[in-house]
Amino acid sequence: MDRFECLACGQLDTRDFYSPLCPACGEPLFVVPAPRPGGRRIREERALALERFADFLPLERLDPALSLGEGSTPLVRLGRLGRRLGLDGLFAKNEAQNPTASFKDRGTAVAVQKAAAFGAGRIGTVSTGNMAASTAAYGARAGLQTFVLLKEGTSPAGLLGAGVYKPHLVAVRGDYGAVFEASLAIGRRLGIPFMNSIDPYRLEGYKLTAFEIFLQLGRRAPDAVVVPLSSGGHLLGLMRGFADLEREGLIATFPQIVGVQAEPCSPLVRAFERGLPRWERIDAGPTRAHAIANPAPPGGNAVLRLIRERDGLLAAVSDEDMFEAQAELAAGEGLFCQPESATTLAAVKKLAAAGRLRLGGGGTVLVLTGQGLKTMHLLDPARVAIQRLDLGGLEEGLARLCRPRAS
Ligand SMILES: Cc1ncc(COP(=O)(O)O)c(C=O)c1O
Ligand SMILES: [Zn+2]
Repeated sequence: MDRFECLACGQLDTRDFYSPLCPACGEPLFVVPAPRPGGRRIREERALALERFADFLPLERLDPALSLGEGSTPLVRLGRLGRRLGLDGLFAKNEAQNPTASFKDRGTAVAVQKAAAFGAGRIGTVSTGNMAASTAAYGARAGLQTFVLLKEGTSPAGLLGAGVYKPHLVAVRGDYGAVFEASLAIGRRLGIPFMNSIDPYRLEGYKLTAFEIFLQLGRRAPDAVVVPLSSGGHLLGLMRGFADLEREGLIATFPQIVGVQAEPCSPLVRAFERGLPRWERIDAGPTRAHAIANPAPPGGNAVLRLIRERDGLLAAVSDEDMFEAQAELAAGEGLFCQPESATTLAAVKKLAAAGRLRLGGGGTVLVLTGQGLKTMHLLDPARVAIQRLDLGGLEEGLARLCRPRAS
C-alpha cells in the first residue's frame, strides 16, 4: 500500500483512490517513497523508461504491454541560441517526442499502470488539450473505457487529437473551472478514477524527466531547469525527481527550478512576487497560451512553497515574446514546439538579461513540453515568408537568395 503526504499536514496512511487532494486541507498529495532496503539504482540497460527507473516508482508490478514507449526523449544542445544569449550550455529536453507528442504521457503511463492494478475498468480526465489526447491514447492501449471531459468550444484540433482514440468525449456546459472538483466526486460514485493534472501517480511519472536529464548530462544536475507552468503538476513532479536524486546522494546541488506562466494569466507569479504563501483568484486577461492559462491552479500553493524552499523562481512572459521564442527555436535550432513550451526560452532571455538565472557552468535546460504541430492554428501566417518566382526566372531567383559559402 502506498503512503501519501501533504506538504501542509504531513503523512497519511491511506488515501481515497479517487481524489488527489488532502482530505484535511485540499492541497495536493504526493507519494511517499517506499523504503528500499537494498537501495535504489538506475537500470540503464533496460529499454522502457518505466523499467529503467522502476526503483524510484510506486509500481509493485509493471505491465510493459500498457506502455507506448514514453520517455527517453532527447536532450538537445542549443548551440546557436546559447551563443546568441551568452549561455554556454543551453539545452532542450524535447518532450514532443513522447507517443502523443507531449510530456503528459509520462504521467499517464504511471497512472494507467496504477488504475489497471487497482482493477479499474475505466479512467477519466478533465482536459481540453494534451492530457485529453494522452489519457485517451493510454486508455485505448489498456482497453479501458475512457471519459474525457472537455470545455464546450474546444478547438477542432483538440477534439480530434483525443477523439481519434474513441474515448467518451463529453463537452461540459456550465462552469468548466468547477469540473475538476466535480469529476472527483462523480468519479468516486461511478468508479471512474479521474487522473487529472495533479494526480499523485501522474507526478511520479514526471519525475523521470529529472532522472533522464541527470543521466544525459553525465550524472549531474544542471544549474537551472525551466518549465511552463499551469496546474503545477509537471513542475512538482520534476522537483520530486531531483529531490529523489538528492536523497540518494546522486546530485550534490539542487537545480534552480523556474516555472513560467503567461503574463495575462499568471496567478502564481503574482503571488510569488508579492511574497504571498497562497495564490489568489485573478481576472485573467486574454492569452493565446491556452495550455498554460489556468486562473485556479490546484497545485499552486505547493508550487509556491517548494519554489521558495528550494530557491527557485517563477516568471511571466508576454504572448508576443512567447511566439518570438517559438519561431527562434524552430528557425534557429530546428525544434518546433507549442508556443506554451517556448515560454521557457522567452523567460530565459528575460532572466539571463536581469542576472536572475543561475549560471554555474552546469547548463540550463528548457523543457519543451509539447509538439508545435498540435497548435498550427495558433501560428501567424505572416511569420512565414513566401517568395514567388516564375519557372523561367527560378535559377536567377535562387542564386540571388543563396548566401555566400562560409570559407
Ligand atoms: C504544452 C504544455 N506545457 C505545459 C503545461 C503545464 O503543465 P501543468 O498543468 O502540469 O503545470 C501543459 C498543461 O497542460 C501543457 O499542455
Ligand atoms: Zn493537508
